[in-house]
Amino acid sequence: MDVLVLAVLLAFATRVSAVTTVSVSASASHAIPTTLYGQMFEDISSGDGGLYAECNNFLFFSALLFTVRKLVLQNRAFQQVTPNTADALNAWTSIGSSASITVIADPSPLSSALPNSLLLSIPPDASGELGFANGGYWGIKVAANTDYTASLYYRLPSALPNGAGSPILTLALQAEDGTRLAAHSTPLLVNATEGWTHISAVLTPIETPPSTANSFTVTVAGFAPAGLEVHFALLSLFPPTFKGRVNGMRADIAETLAEMRPAFWRFPGGNNLEASGQTTATRWQWRNTVGPLTERPGRVGDWTYVNTDGLGLLEYLLWCEDMEMEPFMAVWDGYSLDGTSITGAALEPLIAEAIDQINFVIGDPATSEAAALRASLGRSEPFALTYVEIGNEDNVGRAPGTYASRWNSIVTNLTATFPQLHFMATSLTTTPVLTPTPQIYDIHLYQTPKFFSTDSFFYDSFVRNGMTFFEGEYAATSTNNSNLFGTPDQGRLLWPTVAGSVGEAAFMTGLERNADIVFAASYAPLLGHVNGSQWTPNLVGFDAGNVYKSTSFYVQKLFSLNKGDEYLPSTLPNSSTSGTLFWSVTRWNSTGELIIKISNSAASPAEMTFVLPFETVTTMGTAQVITGAGTASNTPEEPNLVTPTTAQIPTGATFNYTAPAISVTVITLSVQ
Ligand SMILES: *[C@@H]1O[C@H](CO)[C@@H](O)[C@H](O)[C@H]1NC(C)=O
Ligand SMILES: *[C@@H]1O[C@H](CO)[C@@H](O)[C@H](O)[C@H]1NC(C)=O
Ligand SMILES: *[C@@H]1O[C@H](CO)[C@@H](O)[C@H](O)[C@H]1NC(C)=O
Ligand SMILES: *[C@@H]1O[C@H](CO)[C@@H](O)[C@H](O)[C@H]1NC(C)=O
Ligand SMILES: *[C@@H]1O[C@H](CO)[C@@H](O)[C@H](O)[C@H]1NC(C)=O
Ligand SMILES: *[C@@H]1O[C@H](CO)[C@@H](O)[C@H](O)[C@H]1NC(C)=O
Ligand SMILES: *[C@@H]1O[C@H](CO)[C@@H](O)[C@H](O)[C@H]1NC(C)=O
Repeated sequence: MDVLVLAVLLAFATRVSAVTTVSVSASASHAIPTTLYGQMFEDISSGDGGLYAECNNFLFFSALLFTVRKLVLQNRAFQQVTPNTADALNAWTSIGSSASITVIADPSPLSSALPNSLLLSIPPDASGELGFANGGYWGIKVAANTDYTASLYYRLPSALPNGAGSPILTLALQAEDGTRLAAHSTPLLVNATEGWTHISAVLTPIETPPSTANSFTVTVAGFAPAGLEVHFALLSLFPPTFKGRVNGMRADIAETLAEMRPAFWRFPGGNNLEASGQTTATRWQWRNTVGPLTERPGRVGDWTYVNTDGLGLLEYLLWCEDMEMEPFMAVWDGYSLDGTSITGAALEPLIAEAIDQINFVIGDPATSEAAALRASLGRSEPFALTYVEIGNEDNVGRAPGTYASRWNSIVTNLTATFPQLHFMATSLTTTPVLTPTPQIYDIHLYQTPKFFSTDSFFYDSFVRNGMTFFEGEYAATSTNNSNLFGTPDQGRLLWPTVAGSVGEAAFMTGLERNADIVFAASYAPLLGHVNGSQWTPNLVGFDAGNVYKSTSFYVQKLFSLNKGDEYLPSTLPNSSTSGTLFWSVTRWNSTGELIIKISNSAASPAEMTFVLPFETVTTMGTAQVITGAGTASNTPEEPNLVTPTTAQIPTGATFNYTAPAISVTVITLSVQ
């Protein structure tokens, strides 16, 4: 061996810290709750334009938390826009230079929930096909031999003018270069003056265009000497959805989330639950999110863009069933993000609304109007529901100091009404003092990778007094601890990094050690559109065509799939701030599969020796490892830069394992 190489190896060897010996107990200290790993969701451009499969509504904005910048704002049904403004139309482009399009307050609207329509005006003696187009959320993925369901409503404001030559309406998918990929044509009905006519058509392209810069077009051909006007409302384009649900979820995103086998789904927020203004009118209201799409007015959410509410309460619940997740549903608790709140008698209608929301999920149609509404929508059986969250983040600085009184009014009432449910509090565990005493607190943590490692002992010191915890949001958001919520150029992460994911994994080993009191945890936010996200980093990124799995996604997936059902105590990791090596040991009781999870945040490998007290230990185990440069991320440019690798490793009653520098390892082996 070359002397220089030897010197380098020696220098390297001396940097490897002393061997860490981990002795594992044979008997479990506590069960790992089945609910431990799940997903937190709210519509921050991750429902509309993301998980919700609708292609054809628009949210063109570029927004960072606290610096929301709205580029274009529009949607499929012109919800919540101001008619006759450029803003109301921005996302739509006209086809044919002589066509004019305007969003109007329709004198005879499709429904009172959808008062606006798009007016297409075609001048006298125009020729060719005239109409309008939109390009989805930064593109529409179109694939050959795939069925896209296009639909719209139209009406003629007056009888077709004399000489109109059988106008033909065409719905089509069009490639960037103008190639028509699929189309459906139908004559405009003369009797469409009497009301709205609904058209639905399946468009099945035979070729896959080269990019996602495609559009959905609506055109009319065949005109009149006097011109022609047509009103359009609720235009929609759906690709095939996850499990074929009508009005369902985007399949590739849903399948990515399903890979994690999440145990629960926290919804509808987060801040999304809350009112963006002083008035209660802007809060998430479950009633506006159920029933036919024509009856959903949409809502300007906390991030100032319009939510279509096409992804509504019933869609969430069916999605939970399709994914075998428990719903963790929040009800609004009267707190608006501007710091105002509703208390006392004024809370009563809100409590009634929360009761109705819960009854919509679990109530008996024979005794509850809200449950009867659910039954009328095709679902008479109640859904499973155990956990209801009261508000969101009533612990943070801007929150008014009224949570104690609101909690008391709401929870006293809801406990009397639904004694079987568990209610989660969102204030600090120490202050204010809440009555009735919460059984569950939802705790959120956005921090640096380093903080996550050292905070993995956060729950160890908690008194075991019956109180349990939901780590409802957490993520390593920056390496700069004075810029955890700031701008990317000041150090907030755009994508999860390996260092952040390793820190989160260290924290999660602490959650498992404390799973006797921590029953659930979810990374946040879950989803972000690459071209228009409110917030970075996100667990899963996506654009019109692709889904990008972050390093943190792989950590969440590895932990979730390998959570085990009982925790085996072992030698404690370092709890000091200098600790860089963390682990937890769990087991699937029924199969005897032992699972060792290791987070090494050091820049050098860590040698470990495991001592297992079992009679029979297989001689080979499996190590799944995520490792890379601390700053490395999976991005649209390099989506698979860091993915888990799987290797067989020697194991035994005593075995050594070297955890790579900046890594997460999950070792599985069989013990008896
Ligand atoms: C594991 O299985 C044993 C025997 O079936 C049982 O007594 C024990 O309660 C189980 N432990 C857990 C945490 O489920
Ligand atoms: C979306 O973002 C990606 C990555 O930044 C960029 O390459 C692409 O051009 C963007 N697409 C649109 C339609 O803005
Ligand atoms: C027009 O007539 C057709 C059948 O002739 C009917 O299906 C449609 O509902 C009518 N439309 C309106 C708006 O009355
Ligand atoms: C709960 O609040 C509703 C709405 O204010 C009210 O009708 C009901 O009587 C209350 N129930 C209890 C048990 O306090
Ligand atoms: C960390 O964030 C603070 C606050 O945003 C900023 O002033 C500072 O420049 C950042 N430091 C680095 C090293 O980026
Ligand atoms: C544990 O902490 C000590 C200092 O308190 C440090 O020297 C050592 O490297 C740490 N070990 C691990 C495995 O983190
Ligand atoms: C584990 O490593 C130690 C040195 O740290 C060595 O003495 C021992 O033989 C190794 N055990 C096995 C099973 O390889």
